[in-house]
Amino acid sequence: MADIFEKLVKNSGPLGQHRERAHGYFAFPKLEGDIGSRMKFRGKEMIVWSLNNYLGLANHPEVRKVDADASVKYGLALPMGARMMSGNSTYHEQLEAELATFEHKEDAILMNYGYQGIMSAIDAICGRHDVIVYDAESHACIIDGLRLHPGHRYVFKHNDVEDCEKQLQRASQLIEKQKAGGILVITEGVFGMAGDQGKLKEICDLKKKYDFRILVDDAHGFGTLGETGAGAGEAQNCQDEIDLYFSTFAKSMASIGAFLAGPKVIVDFIRYNIRSQIFAKSLPMPIVLGNLKRLELLQTEPQLKEKLWENARKLQNGLKERGFDIGKTDSPVTPVYMKGGVEEATAMVMDLRENYGIFCSIVVYPVIPKGHIIYRLIPTAVHTDDDINRTLEAFSETKAKLDAGAYKVEAIPDMAESR
Ligand SMILES: Cc1ncc(COP(=O)(O)O)c(C=O)c1O
Repeated sequence: MADIFEKLVKNSGPLGQHRERAHGYFAFPKLEGDIGSRMKFRGKEMIVWSLNNYLGLANHPEVRKVDADASVKYGLALPMGARMMSGNSTYHEQLEAELATFEHKEDAILMNYGYQGIMSAIDAICGRHDVIVYDAESHACIIDGLRLHPGHRYVFKHNDVEDCEKQLQRASQLIEKQKAGGILVITEGVFGMAGDQGKLKEICDLKKKYDFRILVDDAHGFGTLGETGAGAGEAQNCQDEIDLYFSTFAKSMASIGAFLAGPKVIVDFIRYNIRSQIFAKSLPMPIVLGNLKRLELLQTEPQLKEKLWENARKLQNGLKERGFDIGKTDSPVTPVYMKGGVEEATAMVMDLRENYGIFCSIVVYPVIPKGHIIYRLIPTAVHTDDDINRTLEAFSETKAKLDAGAYKVEAIPDMAESR
């Protein structure tokens, strides 16, 4: 019999295989200093484009004060236990009520992490006769939620409403045959890699022809889209047709935790049946109070969202004017598509960091097809014109070098920190 660890030692996985050269630099880098558009990386100042601190709340003085005061007053332990047992508080309930109102829903439930929360919500909602119809580019947490689902699932081509309808037809036929079950459509408000909004309005319009409920993961749209910042549903004028609205606090709220909002009776069912919350300690008080403050600022300081969009437009228009392909983004998420191998991409990222002081994330094979590189830039309300202009210059210069073959290297540069 094999030692179960043997294969893990032999094969470190598609990304892990690079860890000897990459750890601490291309993977698991340590950004230091206050969260903002300039931070330190390995002792050097960088213009940072890889934090989802969309509204700049991470370092907002009022947020920092509430986080600090609540930590002093309550510590991290309170309340102890799961919400259902001993971990409930008035503040948890207040945050749920305020989130529900903000999202124009009857009720909301807090979750400790978005990833576990949405997985577990899918598990709680769907029984074995139910059918899930979902977008092909759904986030890993949705895919893992599907793995928990004992029934059928049909995938539709990314943001392809016609294909979504085809899958709804298949799902409806199956349910008719089974004489049991219902349909849950799952998609996203904004797809975090390419920045394109899910076609929520058009998918919701399919309700006129098919019976289904829809769950939207709006991790990147919450706080950044819609007139009040209520997200992609508000932006597309279909918030009322979204049955279950989900967002994490890890992006525009610059915090941790998540929530799911919807009809009271359904949220109450989830509250009493969601395993990731029933069997886990509730969010600590400083997190809840910090999130209440963030939600307040999201509503009382609309200039933060305006500034985010001003910066996003400057960055995106600047890239387009310089001939870069930024795809179909209609959110602040700014992908820059280029051609090249994994090694070239890492050499270019190193040049950007070491010689231009630009820190951004790259996405390469196997996350995307071989020969393609995506640089992913996240503008925030706290970036400055100087940050944007320096970055545009750096991208033009490094792209010219990439095209001239200057980054063709045999292997990923060895930048690992000693471990
Ligand atoms: C679309 C989407 N859903 C869910 C999550 C997971 O949220 P959390 O970080 O709160 O676990 C993320 C990533 O943070 C995300 O991008």
